[in-house]
Amino acid sequence: MQKKLVAPSLLASDFANLQRDIEMVNQSDADWFHLDIMDGVFVPNISFGMPVVQAMAKHAQKPLDVHLMIVDPDRYIKTFAKLGVHHLTVHYEACPHLHRTLQAIKAEGMKAGVALNPHTPVSLLEDIIQDIDIVIVMSVNPGFGGQSFIENTYQKVKDLKALIERKKSNALIEIDGGVNDANAKKLVDAGADVLVAGSFVFKSDDPSQTIKELKEKIA
Ligand code: DX5
Ligand code: ZN
Repeated sequence: MQKKLVAPSLLASDFANLQRDIEMVNQSDADWFHLDIMDGVFVPNISFGMPVVQAMAKHAQKPLDVHLMIVDPDRYIKTFAKLGVHHLTVHYEACPHLHRTLQAIKAEGMKAGVALNPHTPVSLLEDIIQDIDIVIVMSVNPGFGGQSFIENTYQKVKDLKALIERKKSNALIEIDGGVNDANAKKLVDAGADVLVAGSFVFKSDDPSQTIKELKEKIA
């Protein structure tokens, strides 16, 4: 079985101590850095943009998993590639020409991801799943950290796993929002490969230890 991964979301880190928090992730058992880019249009919040990603990239020693919650993401594909981003995920709901967008991401040498809002059924990926490297299943409404997990996610992950197997796709299933030690194992049992964790990691007393325990739970 493929190794299960943990990707701490820097949205919940202390932006005034970003380098410290990045070093913590570098030294921890975490696998990727999850970076949330919000434009205040696709989602009702603005997070951070290119200059901050550039600063993070300078210190991060693990793959940068960038989650774009923005309209018209095609405008910035080349820019993120130049910043050294490894995985670039766009929202299904923001891409009228999803196939073209995914090809453009791959042409820049990045892994291509598609994120689904809680109301978007996995069946809509039927004709594109073979072109996707990562599917992010949103287990909260995108826009904010610290929200509670939507229970319907388990069924969605099972449906997605079945679709991936039926279509012989290599896509990884990543879960984003409200992940903690109470739902992690159940998500992996349903078919998840990667768990994003923001508040659960960074608001804990010992973030590095929290990452370690989360990894142990899903090993
Ligand atoms: C939400 C973001 C998530 C968020 C997760 O829009 O995509 O990545 O940072 O944070 P928690 O783990 O606190 O729900
Ligand atoms: Zn995210």
